[in-house]
Amino acid sequence: MRVVRLASETDFEGWREAARALRTGGVSPADVVWTVDDGAADLFAEPAQDEGGAGAIRVSRSFVDLAQRVVLHRSPARFDLLYRLLWRLPETPHLLAQPADEDVVRARDMERQVDRAAHKMKAFVRFRSVAAAADEEAYVAWFEPAHRVTEATAPFFVRRFANMRFSILTPDVCAHWDTETLRFTPGADPADAPAEDALEAFWRTYYAATFNPARVRLSAMRKEMPKRYWRNLPEAALIPELTRSAQARTETMVAQSPSEPARRIVRAARRASRDAPYEGSAPATLAEIAAGVDACRRCHLWKDATQGVAGEGPETARLMFVGEQPGDQEDLAGKPFVGPAGQMFDRALNEAGVPRREAYVTNAVKHFKHELRGKRRLHKTPDAPEIEACRWWLEAERRIVRPRVVVALGATAVRGVMGKSLPIGKSRGQAFQLEDQAQGVVTWHPSYLLRVPDAEAKARAYAEFVQDLRFAWSLVA
Ligand code: URA
Repeated sequence: MRVVRLASETDFEGWREAARALRTGGVSPADVVWTVDDGAADLFAEPAQDEGGAGAIRVSRSFVDLAQRVVLHRSPARFDLLYRLLWRLPETPHLLAQPADEDVVRARDMERQVDRAAHKMKAFVRFRSVAAAADEEAYVAWFEPAHRVTEATAPFFVRRFANMRFSILTPDVCAHWDTETLRFTPGADPADAPAEDALEAFWRTYYAATFNPARVRLSAMRKEMPKRYWRNLPEAALIPELTRSAQARTETMVAQSPSEPARRIVRAARRASRDAPYEGSAPATLAEIAAGVDACRRCHLWKDATQGVAGEGPETARLMFVGEQPGDQEDLAGKPFVGPAGQMFDRALNEAGVPRREAYVTNAVKHFKHELRGKRRLHKTPDAPEIEACRWWLEAERRIVRPRVVVALGATAVRGVMGKSLPIGKSRGQAFQLEDQAQGVVTWHPSYLLRVPDAEAKARAYAEFVQDLRFAWSLVA
């Protein structure tokens, strides 16, 4: 096994050099583990140099372009995926043109997500003025990009604000421009970004002056400007008021011309004025929850996850299942319960006669908590503060779906649903009254059924699980 230690999370050159040497030396992707140097020496690490092959392999410009962007994705699997593609390229020169290839699909998805993150960063970074020294003004911005695009995007800001001294602080890395040199330092704490801003008034006035609801579709605006960014935008404070007045104006417009697009604008305006669109406001639809969960920074788990995974199922579902957190496969697919635990869950649902498509299936924690062990991402149980931070989303899902029965699968889900711990063995088989008038049912987690070592105990736990699913369904019917 070759362990390659890259210098940083965005070390494309390091990856390229090591990958080239490994590929030339015929080292299979299955025998390579890619890690990022955390500063600790590892006595067991083998260097990835001198593989003994002759002549560097050549790849197309389009592969290099793709790799440079994919490296910026937060998925821990990105280096591995890129090396697998590189490994396959000599035998399949047109690999990147095969749209159905699994590796190509994943790489293209990551590339798209990275491009989108860079685009959002360019659009939504807002500088606040600070006094750097006597007579010297500097600007600072705090931003949390969805992927590690800060270094790649910094030259854009340098071109745009060449004469301005600025720092862009992010949790990953900070970019500093002193009008001559661009430098990078380690990631920062949100507290380092000043909250008050001399530019705020300017932005607000500018924004109010340019906001024209007859031309701007509110729904499109909300889509373009996810809540994650509103926190950075002084003008966001104006949005509730603007959308309220926009509603009145668009309603007049609709009365004169009741076209479907206009109706859509009114509906969007109504939604927009119902909930104040800033960080902390309640999402009004499942689509908003899905976008919000992916952008969530309420705890640190987002940092190592591919994406946030919201629930799935009809908004009118009478039955809601709550699991623990997305696993490895759910993290990649963006859907709950699609991996081994999901298969066990599906089997038991079938046996209990509960149609999954009629239920809303979600998790207490929406990002995958894990640790890297070689190539594997090993599940780690979320702790109480992480469950508590994520209850905000679970409660929003419950408010929107309003299920009659909520089934908590395992201990983490019990904590997420009830706000406290209960012993599953003693609490299963009965209905609890929940605060929102729904009934709560507690049962085993499907992964637990996969882990029980003793065959007899396993069969018993499975039978109890099926019985509990049947019981929950009977409460709904
Ligand atoms: N385990 C869970 O709790 N949820 C999932 O979505 C997958 C595995």
